[in-house]
Amino acid sequence: MALVTSKEMFQKAYDGGYAIGAFNVNNMEIIQGITEAAKEVSAPLILQVSAGARKYANHTYLVKLVEAALIETDLPICLHLDHGDSFELCKSCIDGGFTSVMIDGSHHSFEDNIELTKKVVEYAHERGVVVEGELGRLAGIEDDVNVSDEDASYTRPSEVEEFVTRTGVDSLAIAIGTSHGAYKFKPGQKPQLRFDILKEVEKRLPNFPIVLHGASSVIPEFVDMINANGGNMPDAIGIPEDMLREAAKSAVCKINIDSDLRLAMTGSIRKYMAENPAHFDPRQYLSPARAAIKELVKNKLINVLGCDGKA
Ligand code: G3H
Ligand code: 13P
Ligand code: ZN
Repeated sequence: MALVTSKEMFQKAYDGGYAIGAFNVNNMEIIQGITEAAKEVSAPLILQVSAGARKYANHTYLVKLVEAALIETDLPICLHLDHGDSFELCKSCIDGGFTSVMIDGSHHSFEDNIELTKKVVEYAHERGVVVEGELGRLAGIEDDVNVSDEDASYTRPSEVEEFVTRTGVDSLAIAIGTSHGAYKFKPGQKPQLRFDILKEVEKRLPNFPIVLHGASSVIPEFVDMINANGGNMPDAIGIPEDMLREAAKSAVCKINIDSDLRLAMTGSIRKYMAENPAHFDPRQYLSPARAAIKELVKNKLINVLGCDGKA
């Protein structure tokens, strides 16, 4: 099977009341862990690559690894650029075989965001590629940019119809209280999402796929594993799984997860190294790391996103 866009996946997810997992990929073990999990439960997948991932692993390596996963799994897989910040970056990914790109103009003014997003949409659509836009700003860390809580802002439902109509985007990322990274809420703060904003957006954009970024749950098991084996992570709090389950039943068709993969991988490697201090073969510590990613993703696909059996 060749790479697909997210068009059909989103329509089925919208109609079926579930969401597609969009997992960030940076190397072979991460790609294998995610895709082996999806194959076992027969789930469609979005594999997403950030500018930082592209810089780390190289565009061609990542595309070829994802192509290998297609051969091995025969699943519908969409290859997506995460947080594209310029027309040039989006163009380079479109020309280089991606089937979906995000143009994140959320830090620009409304008019500039529309202008930039529209330019990417025109280029992408002529080449059969779909585009995700963003309105509202999430707190947290993306690449080297740290958006403080004060600079974060919820999506304004009153802007979504105009944004979607004028840009022609295929999906829209909104800010309802999720944030990037492992520290989404202050210690003692109760995790909360603005489902009222989501409902209002849904009403204004009928049959239109919504995207949630910053949706890792920051699984305590892995934070504990890191801290029990020489790490020192302060109180890390993520998005509770029941909130994500609720979101997945709504117009939210794509849920982005990266930090949970990082925590699973790092926790397993730290544990392995602590238990086997004399080992130095990377295959030995990367095997449990890959297995931990696989288990984590399987659980997300079945118990959080509800997309198992939908490939
Ligand atoms: O939204 C950000 C993703 O977690 C990607 O992170 O830019 O450090 O690769 P990165
Ligand atoms: P997390 O940091 O919550 O995993 O979010 C990832 C993300 O939104 C990638 O775009
Ligand atoms: Zn994101």
